[in-house]
Amino acid sequence: MTIATHAYLNHSQRNPVDVAIIGASGRIGRRVLELIEKRAAVAAELGVELRIVAAANSRACLIARGGLAAGEIANRLASGVHLPRQGFDEALLHLSPRLVIVDCTASADIAAQYPQWLGAGFDIVTPNKLGLSADAPLAAAIATARSRTGVQLRASTTVGAQLPLLNTLSELRLAGDRVERFEAVLSGTLSYVLGRIQQGESLSAAVRLAIDCGYAEPNPACDLSGEDAARKLVILLRTLGFNVDLADVERTPLIDAQLLAGNDGSLLQKLAAVDELWRARVAIAEARHERWIYRATFERAGADGFRARVAPERVAADHPLARLAPCENALILHSACYSAAPLTIAGPGAGIDLTAAGVYADLVGAARQRVPIGNVRVAVAAA
Ligand SMILES: NC(=O)c1ccc[n+]([C@@H]2O[C@H](COP(=O)([O-])OP(=O)(O)OC[C@H]3O[C@@H](n4cnc5c(N)ncnc54)[C@H](OP(=O)(O)O)[C@@H]3O)[C@@H](O)[C@H]2O)c1
Repeated sequence: MTIATHAYLNHSQRNPVDVAIIGASGRIGRRVLELIEKRAAVAAELGVELRIVAAANSRACLIARGGLAAGEIANRLASGVHLPRQGFDEALLHLSPRLVIVDCTASADIAAQYPQWLGAGFDIVTPNKLGLSADAPLAAAIATARSRTGVQLRASTTVGAQLPLLNTLSELRLAGDRVERFEAVLSGTLSYVLGRIQQGESLSAAVRLAIDCGYAEPNPACDLSGEDAARKLVILLRTLGFNVDLADVERTPLIDAQLLAGNDGSLLQKLAAVDELWRARVAIAEARHERWIYRATFERAGADGFRARVAPERVAADHPLARLAPCENALILHSACYSAAPLTIAGPGAGIDLTAAGVYADLVGAARQRVPIGNVRVAVAAA
């Protein structure tokens, strides 16, 4: 006999979960808002009703205790009179004891507020890597606030968009497995750029395409410098329980730091200077039946030590990480449990749709934990 459970919202006892969305006018933020609107009926089947009570971007903020229409938020943020930012931060703290904050920015200032929000009992859902990969003081403050209040910080999309990477590593840790080493492609942007230049595109054109496709970070220099991949490696390793900071990851950038200096909007023009260099590198690799990947590597060293690095590297053309399609991510992991053959997780690892879908799933998951038990009726069907 199999038992299917089906939970749905008991509308006679409506008790919506309040949501504040920061970065609501960005690429991911807007798509998350669309999903909140379009998938309301599906969420209701899971026992969840989401009510957006606050929204902000870097220039404006909105608050409405009774709820904001998701489809109107971006336009309302773009026009009209808004609450000053300081007032918004203060108002959030008193808005609702059941608040879930969705951080869809790439802002360090917003990540720095996580301890205060978590300490106030709010859940946080985010694709922003700057909280989970923060340096020790902020990381410790986040961990302390979480353990004190027991609230949720769901950030499964910070690595691999919607791929089941963090959850899987978390389960390996819960199971007491010992991870010995892994190699991975963690940057969807660099996977796309290197994939395209090995299909004949110039480097500068490939970066332009990655930006147009929505794979690149708000500041693409973070991808090209390897910082994005290094932060993802930190998040993976912290998920496995390692005490690691960004500075512990050896990092070789894809593009020389001098070329990336200055946020003056001329990055793509500057990149043209290395188009020929990368054409030559690709030609040499092809002659040797090799391919360029931007590889993240972890291996234990000594009794308690480890080595973690990210770098552009040439691998044999038949290496599993060399066979990824542009934009795909992959992780190949060896552990005590996966000693006979490695655990491999691979698939598209960036993009607005996949990331927003993952953020939305994290939001519904967080909200579901907040729905009072009496509000969810569970139908049990025997088959
Ligand atoms: N694209 C992907 O494939 C992908 C994959 C995984 C994770 N992510 C992550 O998703 C997040 C969002 O990326 P995105 O591509 O949507 O970025 P985006 O289009 O640049 O949007 C960023 C949003 O954040 C807002 N913002 C920036 N600083 C803020 C501040 N201090 N206070 C309030 N709002 C602020 C921006 O407002 P303004 O418009 O006013 O500047 C904008 O609404 C990033 O953390 C990124 O790393 C993206």
